[in-house]
Amino acid sequence: MQSADDTHAKQPRVLIPEAKLQQRVSELAQEIMHDYKGREIIAICILKGSFIFFSDMIRKLDLPVVCEFLGVSNYGNRAVSSGEVKITLDINEPLENKHVIVFEDIIDSGLTLSYIMSTLRARKPASIKSCALLLKTENLKTNIDADYLGFKIAKEFVIGYGIDFNGRYRGLPHIGYIEHDH
Ligand code: IMP
Ligand code: MG
Repeated sequence: MQSADDTHAKQPRVLIPEAKLQQRVSELAQEIMHDYKGREIIAICILKGSFIFFSDMIRKLDLPVVCEFLGVSNYGNRAVSSGEVKITLDINEPLENKHVIVFEDIIDSGLTLSYIMSTLRARKPASIKSCALLLKTENLKTNIDADYLGFKIAKEFVIGYGIDFNGRYRGLPHIGYIEHDH
């Protein structure tokens, strides 16, 4: 019988190596600095999966940045998004008249980020944009588009660089995937 521990014992394959991630993070930070020159931004980290991407990004942003954290969970630990999102930790800062950028790890169906963006839009920011590390192009169910995007990937289940499988693998410095037996 297969358990989560058997899966964990498998060495994940590298999909995006560390150097390529770091290079892209620098490029995204440059784009954001160019677009937001002279303005303060409220950078919102979507917990938990974005915490490493977020911490790398904000250290590269030479702008006044206020960091906020929004905890969301898709119900359960399913690999397929239900589209039902629960806010587990809300931000403290009012967003009214602020320039907001939301940092998300992955857009898969797009339902999570759509829900987050419409929830935050209701708080009347001066502007709001999204920055996603990964976009799975094959599963999109909404017309959501990240304003800043790291990489487009196939529908492979990925882990590492903050992203988990049942809470594991977040500490890997690269984006990997676990090969399944067919
Ligand atoms: P969506 O609502 O279908 O766009 O799903 C987005 C959320 O599902 C992401 O924020 C992740 O938390 C999770 N997710 C989607 N694909 C993966 C994956 O390949 N690995 C780990 N988590 C994933
Ligand atoms: Mg997530």
